[in-house]
Amino acid sequence: MIRSVVRGIGSALPRRIMKNADFEGMVETSDEWIAQRTGIRQRHIAADDETTASLGEAAARAALENAGLTPDDIDLIVLATSTPNNTFPATAVEIQNRLGMRHGFAFDMQAVCSGFVYAVTTADLYIKGGLAKRVLVIGSETFSRILDWTDRSTCVLFGDGAGALVLEAEEGEGSIADRGVLAASLRSDGTHKDKLYVDGGPSTTGTVGHLKMEGREVFKHAVGMITDVIEDVFTQTGISADDLDWFVPHQANKRIIDASAKKLGIADEKAVVTVHMHGNTSAASVPLALSVAVADGRIKKGDLVMLEAMGGGFTWGAVLVRW
Ligand code: ACO
Repeated sequence: MIRSVVRGIGSALPRRIMKNADFEGMVETSDEWIAQRTGIRQRHIAADDETTASLGEAAARAALENAGLTPDDIDLIVLATSTPNNTFPATAVEIQNRLGMRHGFAFDMQAVCSGFVYAVTTADLYIKGGLAKRVLVIGSETFSRILDWTDRSTCVLFGDGAGALVLEAEEGEGSIADRGVLAASLRSDGTHKDKLYVDGGPSTTGTVGHLKMEGREVFKHAVGMITDVIEDVFTQTGISADDLDWFVPHQANKRIIDASAKKLGIADEKAVVTVHMHGNTSAASVPLALSVAVADGRIKKGDLVMLEAMGGGFTWGAVLVRW
């Protein structure tokens, strides 16, 4: 059977680093509160000339270089983002143009923090369906643009950045020994909209709006939802937590990561944690974490890697990949 195998990976971060202490004069908070409650120590914040498209382009170019490919080799770009450059056209098409790609097709996906997990699953189906042979899957966000910088309960949590994978069609045997995307489980439930949303949009206020979150409420649901989809992937594939080499979760809060790993029986040392460096970068958080763990030599060819994310909607999902 056709498998979508990871051929390359790349990432990009804004130049400016904002440390927890930098918030201390802006809102009533402290480095200690932020670090203790979330694990976050710093985040990157985009300058005016750094956008979702420019960061996404930089991550895409890095992934192509890592894969030894050029834009000519790509058939499809799927961009996961909730902070597009414009309401339309899709920022994926802008990235396609920036890459000088004059063939194929590109579109955006919007599943907030679960966007990258949704995008990998979608790209996998395009590859398996024969519509694309090589896909650039990008998660790129500039959440700093939709934050209320006077709201201490949200502005300290998020950061900007981008990560990208090149997925390529390869013949596999159809077993979990294959490399590539092996299984996925996706969910959404709109009854939770008011717990995490942006209070604006083209069809309602005609404005971009600001992020609103009932953090405690989101926290309460997060661990159950994450473990639910991962257990579904375990059931689909017959593997258990012990079989995993790496757990690469959405980087929203270290306490959510720890509690999910514990509930699933995943050893702490298998969890890739980057929330201290990047904060919550929404759809970029999983590919940014993957990039770090590939670059430092933890994730190697053949490793079994579980990706998961949960975010606004609510949306949530997990993807099992053999690297
Ligand atoms: N500095 C100091 N105090 C603060 C801050 C701050 N930055 N923010 C809130 N507080 C205060 C609150 O006002 C509250 O004070 P009170 O007790 O007097 O009312 C107190 O700290 C405790 O607040 P809680 O919200 O209960 O704190 P909690 O331990 O739940 O941590 C957090 C808050 C970090 C937001 C946590 O709930 C969380 O991580 N939630 C989940 C976030 C998440 O996973 N989001 C999903 C993905 S995001 C996406 O999809 C876009």
